[in-house]
Amino acid sequence: MPVPSAGREPLRIALLGCGCVGSQVARLLTEQAAGLSARAGGPLELVGIAVRDRQRPRPAGVDASLLTSDPAELVTRADVDIVVELIGGTEPARSLISAALGAGKSVVTANKALIASDGGALHKAASASGVDLYYEAAVAGAIPLLRALRESLAGDAIRRVLGIVNGTTNFILDQMDSAGAEFGAALARAQELGYAEADPTADVSGADAAAKAAILASLAFHSEITSADVFTEGITSVSAEDITKAKNLGFAIKLLAICERGDEGVSVRVHPSLIPRDHPLAAVHGAYNAVFVEAEAAGPLMFYGAGAGGQPTASAVLGDIVAVARNQRSGVSGPEPLTYAQLPAIPMDEALTRYFVSLNVADQPGVLAPIAESFARRGVSIKIVHQEGHGEDASLIIVTHAARECALAETTAELAAMGAVKAVSSVLRVEGEEGE
Ligand code: NDP
Ligand code: HSE
Repeated sequence: MPVPSAGREPLRIALLGCGCVGSQVARLLTEQAAGLSARAGGPLELVGIAVRDRQRPRPAGVDASLLTSDPAELVTRADVDIVVELIGGTEPARSLISAALGAGKSVVTANKALIASDGGALHKAASASGVDLYYEAAVAGAIPLLRALRESLAGDAIRRVLGIVNGTTNFILDQMDSAGAEFGAALARAQELGYAEADPTADVSGADAAAKAAILASLAFHSEITSADVFTEGITSVSAEDITKAKNLGFAIKLLAICERGDEGVSVRVHPSLIPRDHPLAAVHGAYNAVFVEAEAAGPLMFYGAGAGGQPTASAVLGDIVAVARNQRSGVSGPEPLTYAQLPAIPMDEALTRYFVSLNVADQPGVLAPIAESFARRGVSIKIVHQEGHGEDASLIIVTHAARECALAETTAELAAMGAVKAVSSVLRVEGEEGE
């Protein structure tokens, strides 16, 4: 059977970055050339690969003759049609992408940090040049999620997006839960296995997940949400004791990205959360990602898969390259993310969630009454009271119904000052239960 793309001029690709993801994109562009050509409506030709250090050895499948250390020259070369940015970080990625878009080249990137901070301006630049800016790999690696939000769910109204979008932190919390490891030991194991970077700050601080949450919220709610709008709390203060206490009450602790549409705007936040152990997200183990989308007509949808790694992420990058190539061959640009709704980001103080509060107390008569009264005075309703230990070493765990963040903060400040309370040992949020 004849290949429909046979005889077409190739579309020429400039690759910026040849690390974990870039080297796999370069390899697959060569190894899968025939299939990609058929699916993209014509050949795709890799014409240059920009790196920092040309002398560094590259994995098999990377053509060393294409390496250059001059990315600025490469992105504006007249024979380049599509620029694939896989350097990461803000600069020089932002300047290189801007130059490429300004020169009329479509751009594919996996750079969540940049899209979450500068996506609005970059989309305007793409639109002004009539080219595409695609970034499926920026959120949840291989999982086809952004296209689903932007295109498949364009006919529906999304109410909520709730997900595990950082593989490193999911691996760490999972190790703490399943093997009883402390945070430091679980992080060291994640580094040993190559899940966490040598500098894992962006992962454990929640910044990586916050960038992804901003991108998800922008697409889901047709508004311009940046990483600065996302309330962010990482996992460094989650202890093995918190995990055990949560487990005893039937919960797992996960770092969740939560994007919710309310009457006043959208609430976007990233923080460790207790979820019921029978919730599907509690069954997401290791470095996997999973995202729940709740849409008005479609109901709940779940997306699951590898959120990181060279090959899985390259799969999403190549999908974008094929989509951009098809658009170019048809003389169109793809659908732009819409920001017509202009919903504001709601401050965290106004967010409504449930809480898990763990207090170190002495197990004596009369201790519980002032504690319960402090919650009641601020309208925070208690759902569960559970005691562990006894005598001088008791823990009182209180799980609330939905309450405002500001009411809970005032309550815990008052509890910390009470004579009966030795310490407020942890305050975590609870998600994933309906009607609370
Ligand atoms: P790496 O650090 O493995 O690779 C970065 C590449 O960029 C290297 O080849 C490096 O060159 C090159 N580079 C760095 N600075 C420059 C510069 N100034 N000029 C030219 N080249 C430069 O990163 P990853 O492959 O892991 O990540 C790439 C992107 O993909 C990032 O945006 C990341 O967030 C995103 N991503 C990564 C995932 C993953 O699992 N790794 C998952 C999802 C998204 P050299 O090799 O010479 O040092
Ligand atoms: N550091 C990220 C993670 C890579 O652990 O999920 C994917 O963006």
